Amino acid sequence: MRIVLATRNKKKVPEMRTILADAGIEAEVLSLDAFPDAPEVPETEPTFLGNALLKARAVAEHTGLPAVADDSGLKVDELRGMPGVLSARWAGRFGARDQDRANLELVLDQLADTPSERRGAHFVCAAALVMPDGTEAVVEGVLRGRLIREPRGSNGFGYDPVFVPEGESRTTAELSPEEKNAISHRGVAFRKLAQELVEIL
Ligand code: IMP
Repeated sequence: MRIVLATRNKKKVPEMRTILADAGIEAEVLSLDAFPDAPEVPETEPTFLGNALLKARAVAEHTGLPAVADDSGLKVDELRGMPGVLSARWAGRFGARDQDRANLELVLDQLADTPSERRGAHFVCAAALVMPDGTEAVVEGVLRGRLIREPRGSNGFGYDPVFVPEGESRTTAELSPEEKNAISHRGVAFRKLAQELVEIL
């Protein structure tokens, strides 16, 4: 069986392959690099689930293969759930090389006067599966934690250097990729989606 992961991020492919194998599904996981003509789908929906579905539908239609897409971001309690679906472009320089750092620094500035007991936040990942026959499944994974004041660690990406998961003292940028996948919003969502696929098959 072949599955397309609607991403050009190479790190997500082996993660998905491992999760499917653990669920007993032997699948070749392809990324969009295998489909250079696949449409670029703008993330125009107001929710993670909506954006994940948009991408999975477009890629399933283009490739004729089962397609998986995810959309994720950080929701900060003190910012009423923002940056949310705007996480990737929060500081407004979308696509710039230092975008991740600018986003993280803007959130830290916005929380400069927020005491530690009000610095709760969570990562959310929505994942969607669209089969060639039109069958769809959507799931969500969440990782709760809090934001610290100074970045720490060099693994991961995005807001990882300032995010400490509940029950941890290290940031997600100080965890190994395996440690992070075991608890992360994306790991949780992909494992739920693998179970959905088992049921569909
Ligand atoms: P996307 O789902 O790849 O579009 O990611 C959206 C944005 O959310 C990223 O650019 C990051 O800013 C943020 N984000 C999503 N997941 C994570 C994570 O695991 N760690 C840190 N930042 C994340």
